[in-house]
Amino acid sequence: MKEAQVSMTAIILAYMRGYHAMHDDSKIFDDSLAYRLIPQGWQPLIESSLAEALKLYDPESASSYPDQATALKWVMRLMPSPSMTLSRARYTEDTLDKAVKQGVKQYVILGAGLDTFAFRRPEMLEQLQVFEVDHPVTQAYKRRRLAEVGMEHPAQLHFIPVDFEQESLVASLTRSSYDPQAQSLFSWLGVTYYLPRDSVFATLRDIADVTPAGSTVIFDYLDTDAFVPERAAKRMQVQMESVRQVGEPMITGFDPYTIATDLANLGLRLHENLSPSDIQAHYFQGRTDRYHACEHQHFAWAVVE
Ligand SMILES: C[S@@+](CC[C@H](N)C(=O)[O-])C[C@H]1O[C@@H](n2cnc3c(N)ncnc32)[C@H](O)[C@@H]1O
Repeated sequence: MKEAQVSMTAIILAYMRGYHAMHDDSKIFDDSLAYRLIPQGWQPLIESSLAEALKLYDPESASSYPDQATALKWVMRLMPSPSMTLSRARYTEDTLDKAVKQGVKQYVILGAGLDTFAFRRPEMLEQLQVFEVDHPVTQAYKRRRLAEVGMEHPAQLHFIPVDFEQESLVASLTRSSYDPQAQSLFSWLGVTYYLPRDSVFATLRDIADVTPAGSTVIFDYLDTDAFVPERAAKRMQVQMESVRQVGEPMITGFDPYTIATDLANLGLRLHENLSPSDIQAHYFQGRTDRYHACEHQHFAWAVVE
């Protein structure tokens, strides 16, 4: 992420969740508040640039689309990010629902971006403290925007600004009301691909160190094939080039066959490791609108030993 710049990808992902909530009938994930957090006046710009991106994802037929709304509808289904953000958010909150029933008391959202959980699910806050950990610039923008649109944050939501290039997760949690003795679920969505491999492992090790055995971390990752041009899906290559151009290049993938060993070395047991075809079966099976699981994206659910 460029220094001192609000994460563009966080804003665009929020737009995509909002679009799905507003325009699609059968919901993969219903983020009805996401649109409100997009910067004032940005929606038309995001829409025109996404519609324009259809030329990259489907150059043969892009010119035949009659209007921007139709092009936007099509590109939302073709490009990887909408399916990626919707399915991983759904997977995480489904897992969280089960975890809370089993006694989880804290939900720590790493790289939260414009996540709206604490505002969308007030009933969950009777049992849960929520910690949003994010880059200070992105988090400051979010807090300003929440104030602008009159969304008062609940007492159970705690903001922890941190630049992981400057400070560790453990240090940042230590200066908050986070309780290292309480069972917790950490989510880390849409972030691992942007970080060096060692930084991903350092943060996962921090999670294992700062939470009791039995706590959970959910994260998504790209497999290493995504970074090999001969093996990467075309649409993933297009997406990688687009995020590189906004200053947030994707740089790291993991081998789904060895990640269990990597995690074990950090004090984490891999409980579930969903492949693209698993994700397709869980969240996209039977859909006729062409949303589909993204090649190369995997979901990991690991438990602290
Ligand atoms: C692609 S966005 C994902 C946002 C959200 N999890 C989602 O799925 O919509 C990446 C997030 O990582 C955060 N991030 C990037 N670099 C960071 C850093 N050095 N320290 C802390 N957070 C960082 C950004 O602020 C942003 O919120």
